[in-house]
Amino acid sequence: MRAAFILLLLVLQAVAFQLPFQLPDFFGKTDTNIEQSSIHYSELDPSVHPINLSQYQNKYVITIKYGGDDDLKKTLLRPSAQKEFNFTKWGRSNTQQTIDLQIDAENMKKMIERFPSMEFQVLIEDLSQAVFETYPAHESFYNQSLKAKEEMGGDIHSYSELFFKEYRDLKAIDSWLDLLQSTYPDVISLEEIGETFEHKKIKVVHFATPNDDLKHDEKKTIVITGGVHAREWISVSTTLYVMYQLIQLYETNPTSKALTNLNFLFIPVINPDGYEYTWTTDRLWRKNRQQTPVPHCFGIDIDHSYDYHWTKSSDWACGEEYSGEVPFEAFESRIWDQYLNETNAEHKIAGYIDLHSYSQEILYPYAYLCNQQPRDEENLLELAYGIARSIRLQLGHTYQVLPACIDKDADYLPDLGSGTSLDFMYHNRAYWAYQLKLRDTGGHGFLLPSKYIEPVGDEIYAAIKYFCKFILSDDR
Ligand SMILES: *[C@@H]1O[C@H](CO)[C@@H](O)[C@H](O)[C@H]1NC(C)=O
Ligand SMILES: *[C@@H]1O[C@H](CO)[C@@H](O)[C@H](O)[C@H]1NC(C)=O
Ligand SMILES: *[C@@H]1O[C@H](CO)[C@@H](O)[C@H](O)[C@H]1NC(C)=O
Ligand SMILES: *[C@@H]1O[C@H](CO)[C@@H](O)[C@H](O)[C@H]1NC(C)=O
Ligand SMILES: [Zn+2]
Repeated sequence: MRAAFILLLLVLQAVAFQLPFQLPDFFGKTDTNIEQSSIHYSELDPSVHPINLSQYQNKYVITIKYGGDDDLKKTLLRPSAQKEFNFTKWGRSNTQQTIDLQIDAENMKKMIERFPSMEFQVLIEDLSQAVFETYPAHESFYNQSLKAKEEMGGDIHSYSELFFKEYRDLKAIDSWLDLLQSTYPDVISLEEIGETFEHKKIKVVHFATPNDDLKHDEKKTIVITGGVHAREWISVSTTLYVMYQLIQLYETNPTSKALTNLNFLFIPVINPDGYEYTWTTDRLWRKNRQQTPVPHCFGIDIDHSYDYHWTKSSDWACGEEYSGEVPFEAFESRIWDQYLNETNAEHKIAGYIDLHSYSQEILYPYAYLCNQQPRDEENLLELAYGIARSIRLQLGHTYQVLPACIDKDADYLPDLGSGTSLDFMYHNRAYWAYQLKLRDTGGHGFLLPSKYIEPVGDEIYAAIKYFCKFILSDDR
């Protein structure tokens, strides 16, 4: 094994006598989560690595079981702990009572010394390799796909088959969207709604089929967004996949009620600066990339920037949950708000789904406070369980239904749940609003291998179909 792992072993041996549990996960087959890949990144010339992978050496993803130890939980959730031990939070599960962290060996040792009875397990031991494996096998999909596009005579079907085999960078996504628009000019239109800090365009895909009996502005609109958090790639691929499936439905069944009675707005990459950064520099980046008051710190958490019960985060500007100094400071949230204002008359938004990862959860409002009861809670729950059921019937995967405030631990630290697009959209725009956290539950976390793009796409397509049906049957 590699040097980093040996260091980890030394660290663990040094503290092992304090550990109240066995460590088979470290010493036996160390990582069941990393797929068997024929290539290890270290065997390749670093010049062909997609990004600098050595930044993840000596780093691990672990899951800490806090059990009933609320003090430990609270400590870990506080920004001060993140600073002290220099970790980043990945996920947390209230049912499992676990928190997943990315941390280096040295800080892990410090943490074990501080919390001697802490139970934990390593989820990802070879982080560089796990990161490496999420990029497409061919270093330039764009070139490859241009060729494929030519060879296939610009046929969207064969091209898409290739497209959904891997995660795709912005350039490839744009090229696919252009082909989609030119293939279906009557029902698909692409709109650029604003420019980010790095002058990238935020693109909205409109999908609306003709209906002689119902005017465009009389139809209910469904909004689906992905890529708010840059590293959550599966949310981007799933938005694109669901969109593509709906268009396939249109091809085979153009008079389907869901299509003729609803409009769709998709924003596959609402954080293009952050997304691009995960392809060029740091796969595990979360925020956008705009300047903060601290010179060397970049990025605001877009999902903490919306102006509904906004409170400034206790996180510092370098932290991953930094809210900015004022609401709507993030370019992306402001652009979206402005777009909604300007197109208010055109779009009667009935449903909003914001895709994230990971945890397999269906979150309903509110996020900012657990005491605040949402309107129509019973129906909101009914729809959420219907979505969960549709997902389960597809491939058997369980998604938990819970209020967003619980997932965000807003009852511990109120600022953790404030300023979400979920609350904002639910309160101001959409009668039915959810945040869906896609697969998995922690084995791969944000580094879900690309072979899951289609299965996850299929289960979420089933969920969206159910969502549409429910909204159509709701006569509000
Ligand atoms: C890659 O990252 C490592 C660790 O962060 C750094 O020491 C190294 O200089 C970087 N390599 C290149 C080529 O930028
Ligand atoms: C903390 O971690 C980040 C990235 O993981 C690294 O760039 C930085 O140097 C670390 N800081 C300290 C004080 O160890
Ligand atoms: C991709 O194509 C561009 C221009 O068409 C070229 O400059 C670049 O070297 C190509 N990249 C690869 C990896 O083939
Ligand atoms: C959108 O409209 C609301 C309510 O009228 C207003 O407070 C807000 O400033 C507007 N947003 C933008 C970006 O113009
Ligand atoms: Zn997210």
